[in-house]
Amino acid sequence: MNSFLINGGIPLAGSVRISGAKNSALKLMAASLLTEEKTVLHNVPLIQDVLTMAEVLRELGAVVTFEDGRVEIDPGAELSHTAPYELVRKMRASIIVMGPLVARLGRARVALPGGCNIGPRKIDFHLNGLEKLGASINVEHGFINVESAGLTGDIICLDYPSVGATENLMMAAATARGRTVIESAAREPEIIDLAKFLTSMGARISGAGSDTIIIDGVSGLAGAAHTVMPDRIEAGTFMAAAAVTGGDIVIEDLNPLHLEIFISKMRAIGVEVNEFDHKVRCRGGETYHSTDIATLPHPGFPTDLQAPVMVLLSLARGHSIVTENVFENRFVFVDEINRLGADIRTSGHHAVVHGGCRLEGAIVEAPDLRAGAALVLAGLASAGTTEVRRIGHIDRGYENFEQKLRALGADIQRTQSNDRTPSAATV
Ligand code: UD1
Repeated sequence: MNSFLINGGIPLAGSVRISGAKNSALKLMAASLLTEEKTVLHNVPLIQDVLTMAEVLRELGAVVTFEDGRVEIDPGAELSHTAPYELVRKMRASIIVMGPLVARLGRARVALPGGCNIGPRKIDFHLNGLEKLGASINVEHGFINVESAGLTGDIICLDYPSVGATENLMMAAATARGRTVIESAAREPEIIDLAKFLTSMGARISGAGSDTIIIDGVSGLAGAAHTVMPDRIEAGTFMAAAAVTGGDIVIEDLNPLHLEIFISKMRAIGVEVNEFDHKVRCRGGETYHSTDIATLPHPGFPTDLQAPVMVLLSLARGHSIVTENVFENRFVFVDEINRLGADIRTSGHHAVVHGGCRLEGAIVEAPDLRAGAALVLAGLASAGTTEVRRIGHIDRGYENFEQKLRALGADIQRTQSNDRTPSAATV
C-alpha cells in the first residue's frame, strides 16, 4: 500500500493547471452509452475513478480508448445491461449507468453499491424517479433490476437536490416519450456540463443550473464531442493548499464563478484571492480569522471542500463552527487531523474547530478521497514529516496530485507504506 511522505512548512509558489472535473467526466462517460455512435471527450483527468468507469463501460461492451486526456467511447450496437458488484463496489458512481442503460436497452441490472465511508448514501431518489418515468424496479440478490417497455416523461419532484439522481434522471428522460420536468433538481455546474453534452448529442434540455430542468424526449441521440469542465474541487483544494502553507500560487484553467462561496469564505478567513477570467491568484495571509461554514447543495459551500477548509480553520485565531448538511459521517477524518495537533470536536453534524494550532507531522490514514487530500494539506502545513497512508483514496480523484504539488515547491514523495492492516471500505 502506498503513502505520501511530506516534509511540511514550505510555502507553495508558482502556478498549477487544473484538470478536467472528475464528477463531470464520470457522468459524461456514462452518457455516451445513450447512443450507438462514437463520442469523444477532451480534458478527461487520468484518475482511478475514470479508469474504473472505463472498466464499467467495457464490461457493458463499449470500446474505450485513452490518449492524452482524450477519451473515445464506442458503445456499438450491442450492449450488456449488467454492471457487476466488483466494479460498483469499487466506485459507487458506477450506478450512474442505470439511467442510460434503461433508456437505451429498456433494462438495467446494477449491483447495489453497499457501504460507503461518508454515510449511507441512499439511491431512493434515483429509483423513485425512474419509477415515475414508468420503469419497474425490483431489488434482489444485491442487484437493482430496472425494466421498462419504454419510458414516458412525467413531473418528478426530488425530496432533495441530489446530484446523482438529477443526472441519472436527465439521461433516462433524454429519449423518453414526451416531457419530463425535474423539480428541486441539483444545480451543480456538473449538471450544466452534462446538459451541454446531452444537447450536443441531440437531446432537448432546458433549465440546467436552475432547480427546474425540462427534458423533451427525442427519438434517439447521436455521437458528439465535448470538453470536460474544470474540476472546481481540485481548484479549491489547491487554493486551500496555498493558504495553509502561507504560499502564493496562480491556479489556471478554472472557472472562479463555480467557487464563489468558497472564495468569499477564503477571503473572510484572511486569504487574498484575485480572480481573473480563467485563473485565480491565491496568497496566504499572516493571520487567519475564524469563520463558520455550513455545507449545502450548490450554490452553497461544497461538502467536498469541507475537509480542506477545516485544515485552514485549525490555523485561524478563535473557534469556528462547521456544519455538514449534505453527508453523514463526513467528519471521519477529524481523529486523523487531530493526530497532527488540530483540536476539532464533533457532535452530530457539527464540528467546532479550535483554531490557533501548531500542526506537527505524524502518521495518518486517508479515510476517503477529500479527507485524504485534506490530510495532505495538513501535512504540508505541519512542522516535520507526515506520512499519509491509504492514498489510493486520493488517486481516485486527483490527477498527478504529488507532481503538481512538487512543481509548486512542496516536499512530497510517494512511498511504499509499512501499513499491513486491511484496507477500509471503498467509497
Ligand atoms: C455527488 C458527488 C460528490 C459530492 C455530492 C454532493 C459525484 C461522483 N459525486 O455525489 O463528490 O460530494 O454530489 O455535491 O458526482 N441521497 C439520498 N437518496 C438518493 C440520493 C442521495 O438520500 O437517492 C442523499 C445522500 O445520501 C446524501 C445527499 O442526498 O446525503 C446528497 O447526495 P447526492 O447529491 O446524490 O451526491 P452524489 O451524487 O452521490
